[in-house]
Amino acid sequence: MAPVLIVGGGTIGLSIGWRLARAGRAVEVFDRAEAGRGASWLAAGMLAPDAELQFEELELYAFNRESLDRWPQFVEELEADAGQSVDYRDEGTLIVADDRDSAEALRRLYDFQREHDLNVDWLTGEEARAVEPFLAPRLHAAIHAPFDHQVDNRKLIEALKVALQTAGGTLREHTPVERIEPDEEAPAVVLDDGTRVDGSAVVLAAGAWSRGVEGLARDHRPPVRPVKGQMLQLQMELPFDLQHVVRGPDAYLAPKSNGRLLVGATSEEMGFDTQVTAGGLYDVLEGGWEIVPGIYDLPVTETWAGLRPSSRDHAPLIGRSAAPGVIFATGHYRHGVLLTPITADEVARLLRTGETSPWIEPFSPLRFVSSPAASA
Ligand code: GLY
Repeated sequence: MAPVLIVGGGTIGLSIGWRLARAGRAVEVFDRAEAGRGASWLAAGMLAPDAELQFEELELYAFNRESLDRWPQFVEELEADAGQSVDYRDEGTLIVADDRDSAEALRRLYDFQREHDLNVDWLTGEEARAVEPFLAPRLHAAIHAPFDHQVDNRKLIEALKVALQTAGGTLREHTPVERIEPDEEAPAVVLDDGTRVDGSAVVLAAGAWSRGVEGLARDHRPPVRPVKGQMLQLQMELPFDLQHVVRGPDAYLAPKSNGRLLVGATSEEMGFDTQVTAGGLYDVLEGGWEIVPGIYDLPVTETWAGLRPSSRDHAPLIGRSAAPGVIFATGHYRHGVLLTPITADEVARLLRTGETSPWIEPFSPLRFVSSPAASA
């Protein structure tokens, strides 16, 4: 059987490829640069379904939670296949409020979480500091979410690349796909040097760049745009040793086991601009410093701007597209790392069985096509 052709080697494309290869399918993953160096590399690796959603996004919320539940097994299998750790950490997350306004917003989030039977705890500022001593003395309140975990997204990428290739998948880095040629039986991709590669299916998983791949009819293209996030990396130095992911009203901090401390992130509609700006870093640092003042003395070791792939409704596009033989797995916005296991499992299942599982039905790419039947 011709290979499944995956356009985009971020965490989503690589993990779909790995799941398929390990099930015995031929698969080729194409990335225009080094695989995984887009949003996947520039993220913070937080597995936090609660803190980044609007309350009305209930379908996405359930999807996020299901993916979170799949993470431990995904890690076990990935680490075994790749022979390396992805630094999955389960200390949990503290969502904190630094004034009365944010304490009220936090209380609404807590009530919402309790309504959905989440095992979260409401802590006073003092109780929160007993859990995480590096929190600012002035914090009013916190939610302790013990089940909101994290992973080192850069280690995740490295492991997925090894696991994909160990399972027999092909990774073609620095190989831009210029065009997709849709076809129900024999779709293909055309590379920028003109080479045509035939496949049994094409998966478009190119994140913020998904809309720019040629070959799809205009209204079949995924309505995905980049949303810029500026971040920076600090190096923790003892006695500073933050243990929990901490999220405040204006910034989050995610400590990794090798001492990296990620502080993020702005949210800017700037197209494909990835300039790091003084104002962006200032906002993120101020937001981080207000909730964890001990970061003040830490060395800055890296700064960057990543591009989150966002759709019009902020939910991903997963499943058959209106273009024959082309499946989308894109538009994961703030949740790409969190949604990796469920996206990989359900897209691999769709490709193996032809069945769309109820988990991905609400995220069908066809919701953005005016007349899917006519376009198919
Ligand atoms: N998920 C982290 C962010 O969007 O900044």
